[in-house]
Amino acid sequence: MTAPSRSRRLASLAASITLLYLAAFSPTTALDTDAGNAPNPLLDDLILKLRDGARRDGLDVSYESEFTVFGGGGLKGRASEDIHVLGNNRPERFTAVRGSTSYFGFSLDGITARDESGITGGGASRQDGIHSALEGDGTSKPEANTSGEGLIRRQETSTTVFVSANICRYPERKSGTPSASDPPQLWLLFSSDASDEHPDSTKPTAQTDMFYEGAAMKSIGASTSSVYFSIEAPNLSDDFEGDWTFEVAVSTSGWYHSFEDDETQNMLWTAGLDNASALLMTKNLTEDTRDAQAIMDSGPPFTLFVDSVDSPRLKGVRHSYCGLETYAQIASMKDKKPSDQVLMSMTTRGAGRLPKQQFWLAGLNSTTAYTGILVRTGQTSLEKRQNDGSSNGGVRVLPETQFQTTTGDNCRVITDLDFCTEVEYAVPANDNKFNTTSLAKKYDDYARTMYSNFEKAIQQIPCEAPVTSKYSLARSCDDCKIAYKNWLCTVAIPRCEDFSSNNPYALIRNAEQAFPNGTSLDESVINGIGRDKPALLHSRNAWIDEEIAPGPYKEILPCDDVCYHLVQSCPAAMGFGCPLPNGDDEMFWGSYAQRKDGEQSCSMPPSSSFVGGAATLTAGGGAVFAVLVAFWASIL
Ligand SMILES: *[C@@H]1O[C@H](CO)[C@@H](O)[C@H](O)[C@H]1NC(C)=O
Ligand SMILES: *[C@@H]1O[C@H](CO)[C@@H](O)[C@H](O)[C@H]1NC(C)=O
Ligand SMILES: *[C@@H]1O[C@H](CO)[C@@H](O)[C@H](O)[C@H]1NC(C)=O
Ligand SMILES: *[C@@H]1O[C@H](CO)[C@@H](O)[C@H](O)[C@H]1NC(C)=O
Ligand SMILES: *[C@@H]1O[C@H](CO)[C@@H](O)[C@H](O)[C@H]1NC(C)=O
Ligand SMILES: *[C@@H]1O[C@H](CO)[C@@H](O)[C@H](O)[C@H]1NC(C)=O
Ligand SMILES: *[C@@H]1O[C@H](CO)[C@@H](O)[C@H](O)[C@H]1NC(C)=O
Repeated sequence: MTAPSRSRRLASLAASITLLYLAAFSPTTALDTDAGNAPNPLLDDLILKLRDGARRDGLDVSYESEFTVFGGGGLKGRASEDIHVLGNNRPERFTAVRGSTSYFGFSLDGITARDESGITGGGASRQDGIHSALEGDGTSKPEANTSGEGLIRRQETSTTVFVSANICRYPERKSGTPSASDPPQLWLLFSSDASDEHPDSTKPTAQTDMFYEGAAMKSIGASTSSVYFSIEAPNLSDDFEGDWTFEVAVSTSGWYHSFEDDETQNMLWTAGLDNASALLMTKNLTEDTRDAQAIMDSGPPFTLFVDSVDSPRLKGVRHSYCGLETYAQIASMKDKKPSDQVLMSMTTRGAGRLPKQQFWLAGLNSTTAYTGILVRTGQTSLEKRQNDGSSNGGVRVLPETQFQTTTGDNCRVITDLDFCTEVEYAVPANDNKFNTTSLAKKYDDYARTMYSNFEKAIQQIPCEAPVTSKYSLARSCDDCKIAYKNWLCTVAIPRCEDFSSNNPYALIRNAEQAFPNGTSLDESVINGIGRDKPALLHSRNAWIDEEIAPGPYKEILPCDDVCYHLVQSCPAAMGFGCPLPNGDDEMFWGSYAQRKDGEQSCSMPPSSSFVGGAATLTAGGGAVFAVLVAFWASIL
C-alpha cells in the first residue's frame, strides 16, 4: 500500500469510526404536514404570550393614553355623516388623500361583559391603565337595547379600547426624485375632550401619535359609550404622487394590529443557506409536548416576508402586515395563496420534537443579505371561543431576522429526508450531477444502507449488557440503535461551507478535487494546505469524493460528544471507539471538533438531548479504536 493511499484510508476509517453517534430521534414518522385549518385550542398559549408581549410595560409607554373618554351618547344614528363607524374587531380599509383627515367612531353599546374581560386580548390585564368610570349625565345612556338581562350596561365599568392601524400603501416618489428618506407616515389623533367627534391636530386638545414603520397602536380607557379618533395625512410636495391606503381596527379584546420591537421576542432563525436558497425555522411553537399534536394539526400560524436588506421596499412597512404584503419581494402567503418561491410546512424536527413552522426559500441571489419578517396571522379556536363568536383574529408583526446567502456553488441546503429526518443544512453538492432532491436522496440512501449493515451486525452481538458492565451503562439495544443512527446521519452527511468561508471552525476538505465548474485550486494553494494532510485533501468519506464530486469545500465537524455518546450507548462488544483529542492527532481533528461555549464550533444532531461526557471512554481507547477499525473496515 502506498503511503498516501494508506493514510487516506486511515482518515476515511477514522471518519467512519467517528460515524458512531446521532441519538434520540427515533425513526418514527415525521409529523411534517401541510396542516389544514382545523381549530386548535393549544396554539393559544403562544398567541397569548405574543399578545401579552404587546402589553408589556416597556411597549405600553408610547401607546397608552392617560386620559379617559367621557361624555357622548350612543354613536349609531347620531354621529356626523363624516364619521366612519367601526365594528368591534372588524378591520376596514380606507384611502387617505394628502392633507386630509379621516374621522372614526366606535360605539361600546352592546359590548357585553364577556367581551370586555378580554381574555384573549387584555381588557382584564389592563386594569392598571383603566380609569374608574365616572358616569356623566343621563344623556349618555346607551341607545342599544338595555332591557335584555344578558347585556351589561356600558356605564357601569370602564373598558379599554384598542385602536390600531397599518399603512398598506404609500404615495410613491415620482421616478427620478431621490428616495433616501422613508415614505411619509400618517398620524393617529385623539382628543382629550372625549365628546369631540372630530379630533384635529390644529386643536389644543389633540393627542397625536405618528405611525411608526407603517403601524400605530393606542389604547384608551373609555368610560363612555363612544370613542372618537382620526387619522391625518400630511401635506406632501410634488415629488410624490398617489395616496395612502390604510387598514384600521378597533377592539375591546386587544390590538387587532400589533408589532413586537423587542429583539428577544424574535421567533425566526436560519437553519441552512446556500447560494440560492435558505431554510428558515420558527422557534418551538410550544414548550409543552402535550400540545404538539394539536398545533401540528392546526394551520401554520405565521406568514413570512423576505426582501434584500439593501432594497428600499421595506422602508416604512416593517411593522405593517398589509404593507409587507404590498411591498415585500417574497411572501410565503399572499392574497391567501402560497408562494411558488417558498415551501412551507410544519415540522417537529429538532431537539424536544416540538412543533415549528419551516420555510424553504428558493430563487435567492448569491452573496446577498436578506431580511425576514414573521407575522403571526393564524387564528385559533380558543380565540374564537373567547371572543364569543366575534373573533379578534388579529395580526402581529415580529422583529426582523437577517441572513446572507453564500457565494460558492458546491454546498446545497437539503431537508425533509426520509431516513435522516433531522438533517436540515447545507451539504457538499455538485449541481452537474444532482439537483437538490436527488442530492438529498443520495445522502439519505447512503446512510440507510450503512444503517442496515449495522442492524445486521447488532443482531450478532449480545446487546443487552449486564448491569455490572463497566462501560456499557446498562443501555438497551434500542438506545444503541438510536445513538448509532444519530451519529451516522451526522457524520455521513457533512455540514458544508464555501471553500472561501472564513469561519475558523470550518475544516478544508477535498482540496485536491476540481470544482464542479472544472477549475482546480492552484498547486501552490494545495501545497500550502499540506500534501501530508489527507484529511484536508479528501472528504471524510471517500464515497463523497467519488459519487458526488463536490470539489473543495469546508466542513463544520461533528461535535466529539456525538461519538462518545455512541460508545456509551452501545455494548462494548461492538467495538466502537472514538479518537481522542491530543495535540496533533489528525485522527481526531480530521474527524471531530470540541464544543466551545456560545459558538457554533461543531455540528450537533439537532434532536439529541444526551448529556455529553467522555470520561468513561478514555479507558482502553486505543484498543477499542483498533477493534472498531476492524469492525468497520468491512462495511465502508
Ligand atoms: C395641508 O395644506 C392645506 C392648505 O395649506 C391646509 O389647509 C391643511 O390644513 C394642511 N393639512 C395638514 C394636515 O397639514
Ligand atoms: C329590546 O329588547 C326587548 C326584549 O328583548 C324587545 O322586545 C325590544 O323590541 C328590544 N328593543 C329594541 C330597540 O331592540
Ligand atoms: C425547543 O425546545 C427544546 C426542548 O425544550 C430545546 O432544547 C430547543 O433548544 C428548542 N428549540 C428552539 C429552536 O428553541
Ligand atoms: C436578484 O438580483 C436581480 C438583479 O439585481 C434582481 O432583479 C432580483 O430581484 C433579485 N432577486 C432576489 C430574490 O433578490
Ligand atoms: C469555479 O467555481 C469556484 C468555486 O465556486 C470559483 O471560485 C471559480 O472562480 C469558478 N471558476 C470559474 C472559471 O468560473
Ligand atoms: C449558484 O450556483 C449554481 C451552480 O453553479 C449556479 O448555476 C447559480 O447560477 C448560482 N446561483 C446564483 C444565484 O448565483
Ligand atoms: C431531479 O433529478 C431527478 C433525476 O435525477 C428528476 O427525476 C427530478 O425530476 C429532478 N427534480 C427537479 C425538481 O428538477
